[in-house]
Amino acid sequence: MIILGIDTSCDDTCTAIVEDGKRLLSSVVNSQVVVHHRYGGVVPELASREHIRNIVPVVKESLGKARLNNKDIDAIAVTVGPGLVGALLVGIYFAKAFSYANNIPLIGINHLEGHILSIFLEKRLPPFPFVALTVSGGHTNIYHVRHFGDYTVLGQTLDDAAGEAFDKIAKLLELGYPGGPVIEKLAATGRPQAIDFPRAYLSKDSLDFSFSGLKTAVALYFRKWCHHKAEENKIKIADIAASFQAAVVDILVDKVIAATHQVGVKSVVLAGGVARNNYLRSKLQKMITKEGIDLYTPSPEFCTDNGAMIAVAGYHRIAKGQRDDLTLDARSRFPLDQIQAPH
Ligand code: KG4
Ligand code: ZN
Repeated sequence: MIILGIDTSCDDTCTAIVEDGKRLLSSVVNSQVVVHHRYGGVVPELASREHIRNIVPVVKESLGKARLNNKDIDAIAVTVGPGLVGALLVGIYFAKAFSYANNIPLIGINHLEGHILSIFLEKRLPPFPFVALTVSGGHTNIYHVRHFGDYTVLGQTLDDAAGEAFDKIAKLLELGYPGGPVIEKLAATGRPQAIDFPRAYLSKDSLDFSFSGLKTAVALYFRKWCHHKAEENKIKIADIAASFQAAVVDILVDKVIAATHQVGVKSVVLAGGVARNNYLRSKLQKMITKEGIDLYTPSPEFCTDNGAMIAVAGYHRIAKGQRDDLTLDARSRFPLDQIQAPH
């Protein structure tokens, strides 16, 4: 079964074609970074306009790369939420029109289910059940994944998402946007132990996250640091970036390990844009190996938003007979445990 997957939940217009929920035939991601760069973050109205401009050419490019025509597509899967409603609607209306015109099934997908299932595009697959950590610009969640479509939220952020914290700190340090990659690059030349930023563990046994205190601590530190810059300053800006990154990563690693103990599983899947971060990947790998747990990470292009992960999630729902009709609508908030498990 050949599925066209579409994601327009944020600032990238993403389409991909995947066969049988695992074999990638093509993937195209049209980034809007140049559009939003000067605002230091995503401007929803501009994102919607860009998606409208891009969606048809990007789908055509996916079909061309896979050497397929419209009639070769067996079903279409599209992200319905969570995300920016105006952005989501562009993908959803395109998918409805494509489904109607080609008389093929339509299925709406939760963006976070897509991130979790992105690992199924890889050769090395995790056994069920596993713990998934999804860390992106909009979300920081820990899930107990029992099977395709069967998810329980174990922990989530109470304020900022991890990627959002990276983006905000990069803006504060005047490093540019998106913040994750620039902070990672700068941090590589800094000392992670230089500044002991606070790590919020919340209550004992809590698997929830909070990054707002850390963000404030970095902001206050940076203000003082700028003030003393004229003098011989032993702390470099790279040390601030490295110490911030280390604080975020410590919390993520500790909580995900605690989650594996809580539900008694031996496999962890890391997903979402922040999963591209090599410091996180290597620290998690090191700590988790000590615990006798296996780590599964998607390749970098499937960590950040993409249409392939939506096609994978769509496959497992369509194959079990699930369908949506033309009343399909966007959902700005869409907790993953509210989705219907395929039977
Ligand atoms: O999953 P994604 O593409 O979009 C959302 O669903 O949010 O994630 C984007 C987020 C941004 O906040 C970006 O700064 C972060 O992922 N990110 C990174 C890295 N690459 C992207 N964060 C830390 N280190 C990176 N190398
Ligand atoms: Zn995402």
